[in-house]
Amino acid sequence: MSNVIKEFSRFAHQYNQHNEIQAQVAKTLVSKLPNKEHFKSILDLGCGSGAVVKNLQEEAYVYDTFTAFDSSKAMLEIHPSSEKITKVCGDFNHRNFLETLPFEEYNLLLSASALQWSTDLDQIFSLLSKVSTTAYFAIFTSGTFRTLHSLAGVSSPIYKTEILKNTIEKYYKDVEFELHSYTLSFDSVREMFRYIKKSGVSAGEKKLGFKETKRLMESYPLDYLEFEVLFVEAKM
Ligand SMILES: C[S@@+](CC[C@H](N)C(=O)[O-])C[C@H]1O[C@@H](n2cnc3c(N)ncnc32)[C@H](O)[C@@H]1O
Repeated sequence: MSNVIKEFSRFAHQYNQHNEIQAQVAKTLVSKLPNKEHFKSILDLGCGSGAVVKNLQEEAYVYDTFTAFDSSKAMLEIHPSSEKITKVCGDFNHRNFLETLPFEEYNLLLSASALQWSTDLDQIFSLLSKVSTTAYFAIFTSGTFRTLHSLAGVSSPIYKTEILKNTIEKYYKDVEFELHSYTLSFDSVREMFRYIKKSGVSAGEKKLGFKETKRLMESYPLDYLEFEVLFVEAKM
């Protein structure tokens, strides 16, 4: 199991208290959907504890079936259940993961705050463009924790906006992008670092040693963390 998966599972029970930005991102993603459309089948990739399906319900969207896909069993357990929802535990970095889904095609594909962990952008977007002709993605970019990374002298473990855009444009005919930046303020640097550890956003990063972390905490110039998210509306 990779670092990413471990970190998300470890904090699954506390996850809802530590996901302010992701919660906002999922809400914004759902707000971009065409008004009051009835969706036959929806696939949510990296569904986590269900922010997307909860927003769909709040906005009174109607769907016949919803496939909740995630690599973390702990997340799927706390994801809402209903007779319309099928939960699938799997890894979207596996080239055959589509074969584990209950349907070959979907009317709508959604993915909020998960695809930054794709290990092969060409592979995933080539597969995804075949499974649904309409997709809405929200993907964290390398602008996330920009100041922190530059201070620590490490490069971001996640993709640059340009790389994401260029790859997505290869596989979809009609694409619209919107880049959002967010800041999250903290009372103390200690709390900020605790958040980074628990949010899951930093998962997979090279671990900093105790001394390096202490030095970083002392020299971090901001009382907030930076986040950057690319919103994508893609059609074939
Ligand atoms: C930051 S959470 C976002 C969850 C949810 N979409 C939301 O908006 O709150 C990212 C999710 O992606 C899942 N994930 C990460 N890598 C994955 C992979 N390779 N395959 C499937 N799911 C993955 C994690 O388990 C986690 O639940």
